[in-house]
Amino acid sequence: ASLDTLALTERGASLEVFEERLLLQIWAVQNGTVRVAIDELQPIKPRYKVVDVLVGEPRCEQLRIEWRRAGCVSLTWGPGQHQVRVSASPFCLEVVCEEEVIVTLNPKGRLCFETLQDPPSSLISQDEEDPLGLWQENFKQFRDIKANGEFPKNYADEDVFFQHYSIIKLKPCITVNICDTGPSSVGIDLSLHGFTNVYGLPEHADSLRLKDTSGSEPYRLYNLDVFGYKINRRLGLYGSVPLLVAHKPDRTLGVFWLNASETLGDNGPTVKWSRLSPETNVSWVSESGQIDCFLLLGPSPAQVFSQYAQLTGYQALPPLFSLGYHQCRWSYDDEEDVKSVDAGFDLHAIPYDVIWLDIDHTERKRYFTWDSKLFPNPIDMQLHLQRKKRKLVVINDPHIKADPHWPFFFAARDGHHFVNDRDGNVYYGTCWPGNSCYLDFSSSRTRSWYASQFSFDKYKGSTESLFVWNDMNEPSVFNGPEQTMPKDAVHCGGWEHRDLHNLYGFFQHMATVEGLITRSGGLERPFVLSRSFFAGSQRMGAIWTGDNIATWEYLKISIPMLLSLSITGIHFSGADVGGFWQDPDPELLVRWYQAGALQPFFRGHSAKQTKRREPWLFGDTVTSAVRSAIQQRYYLLPYWYTLFHLAHTSALPPTRPLWVEFPKETETFIMDNQYMIGSALLACPVTDPGVTEVKVFLPGSDEVSLKFYGYLSLQGNAEGMLYLDDGHSFNYRDKKQFSLRTFTLWSGRLTSSYCKATKKICLCPQTFVVLLVLRPPTWKLSVDHRMQSICDHGLCCGGSE
Ligand code: NOJ
Repeated sequence: ASLDTLALTERGASLEVFEERLLLQIWAVQNGTVRVAIDELQPIKPRYKVVDVLVGEPRCEQLRIEWRRAGCVSLTWGPGQHQVRVSASPFCLEVVCEEEVIVTLNPKGRLCFETLQDPPSSLISQDEEDPLGLWQENFKQFRDIKANGEFPKNYADEDVFFQHYSIIKLKPCITVNICDTGPSSVGIDLSLHGFTNVYGLPEHADSLRLKDTSGSEPYRLYNLDVFGYKINRRLGLYGSVPLLVAHKPDRTLGVFWLNASETLGDNGPTVKWSRLSPETNVSWVSESGQIDCFLLLGPSPAQVFSQYAQLTGYQALPPLFSLGYHQCRWSYDDEEDVKSVDAGFDLHAIPYDVIWLDIDHTERKRYFTWDSKLFPNPIDMQLHLQRKKRKLVVINDPHIKADPHWPFFFAARDGHHFVNDRDGNVYYGTCWPGNSCYLDFSSSRTRSWYASQFSFDKYKGSTESLFVWNDMNEPSVFNGPEQTMPKDAVHCGGWEHRDLHNLYGFFQHMATVEGLITRSGGLERPFVLSRSFFAGSQRMGAIWTGDNIATWEYLKISIPMLLSLSITGIHFSGADVGGFWQDPDPELLVRWYQAGALQPFFRGHSAKQTKRREPWLFGDTVTSAVRSAIQQRYYLLPYWYTLFHLAHTSALPPTRPLWVEFPKETETFIMDNQYMIGSALLACPVTDPGVTEVKVFLPGSDEVSLKFYGYLSLQGNAEGMLYLDDGHSFNYRDKKQFSLRTFTLWSGRLTSSYCKATKKICLCPQTFVVLLVLRPPTWKLSVDHRMQSICDHGLCCGGSE
């Protein structure tokens, strides 16, 4: 690093590194985060910078120089509790807190930054072999050409892009100046001092505590459609969150690597050469883009969660119904089938809120349509469900059937809403409808267009009780490399798919959410489930873990998979209850319902080829066990809703690894089978066959009895809270119509008081049932007049309402 080039700006510091080829920027983001970015000083074309993931430009503190010594400079900010020390040669950067180095960037000088270059002329003129795969790489029958054509320099401006695009289209034989980029990867190492337990980096079907990957395969972040994925593997699955959380008894630390291209995260606990304390070395490598790394300094787990949420956003507050039970299958055959399954729930007194329709409800896999024979009266069907306060969710995938007779297709094509191939033509791939094109959700113009398709006048047969499921949005391309889109496909702005692959599903999720909010005039909260996701997807809604299998191993792995998601901000997640593929035996099915009822998103789902498995098809014993698991979910619904309010406002995950609540209890650091639901309930689902008893580790030295809304201390005192609002609109946000009450049990007396409330609201009857049923006979319940007036205000009925 050239320390002479150090410049302090209003928002941070910058200096040149590596013979003035790279620019290092450092910011102290408010509330305990250090951001370090490295980009080329003069790239031959701009490198991709992730957009729309951060909720805004982070607010930064003024940096100041604390001292300068030969070859090293120390920067600090605010009260001076933290420092960033940059050493010139070899270049490394240390983050220091109270004289202790917490993390070192580039400790071994392995910073990698492939600057963009012009290709060797021999490669352009002849179709020469490139044995190292630097400019073109062959994978099975696919060839990835890492040399995309030039687009105008100001291509961030979409109008300029489209003007240029049409020139290419009109005169396809014109050769534009090739501005090839070739290899473009970036990578850096970090030492996390004193840490041996690291977590995060979803999505992987692996343990919660990340494995030491030294000498073995790294964790890969590359969103892929992996049907029946293998477990205990580090290959990429449907979504990615490049956030690693390190924990030790006195500190939690987050490392957020903001890059949307294919990324590898490698980690290995070792003993550091210069001091005898353990540490974890983390290496990040991404195929393209820039280095943009956030160090979330905690020190508590809750502070790391909040630092991360301040960057990428808080969990959306789900509509209350979506925290209830969902019944899905690929596919319910027709309207009669839907009505009969719906009636089955009533007949067997099993509560549920939502029934789902998979791809076969459409006219030949053309989303936004209905098969006119199977679903001739979709509105009547929805009204039928609505009368019982139930909802319908329908699937809407990102591939669009290439059907020149379908107005939707040609509107998308003529409006330039599809991803292109590297030659500037619309890209075609295969998915459920056969030959298809893929909407370019990375374009805000396309997102708005797609969102507008959900308006009630455009989406015929939809009503306000219809919600949406985005599937296959990694994107899945049946005839593509690794069953996804080629990396040299081109998006709006001229960016290669390679640059933003991991964001594709995130952008579709965003567009769908926008569509549902807009169709309600901005009044109603959306519910959208997405299979693919990225950092920040929590702002949109729910995700699930894709095509699992009906075996005990998949039930077991669902717990660490969902916990990894929850500590990386994606709180509303679930796994297909019962297993998507194959048929569970009744014991597994019951255990899965019991476990699923304790996970944030609770949906039974199964593949087309599986046997029907509505809860009443296996005899009375199974029906009653499933009924009671689902009922217990509904008893706890006010608690879940309160936890989602806390996630929405303070980033606390509704489901938490034990160490989040008990950060000093080292036994909890490796636990995969137990977790906390909020701070008051401990969950330990049965995930093995033939089990009638489980051994549960009870953390917390002075808290013995776990109860709803709060836990009892040894002295028999407890405190908790309850959040309520209308359960569906944005009035809680826009009109402050909600109620937040604390409940305190002190010397045998239970009292309740407002935390915050401005408007009277309708209260769920179940809330009282839960409180009353669970209170031991010795408790005294005092209801104050304000609470009474809320009770009188009105009661709802049925399902979650
Ligand atoms: C794959 C999804 O993972 C699965 O849940 C769905 O049923 C099928 N696609 C069909 O749409």
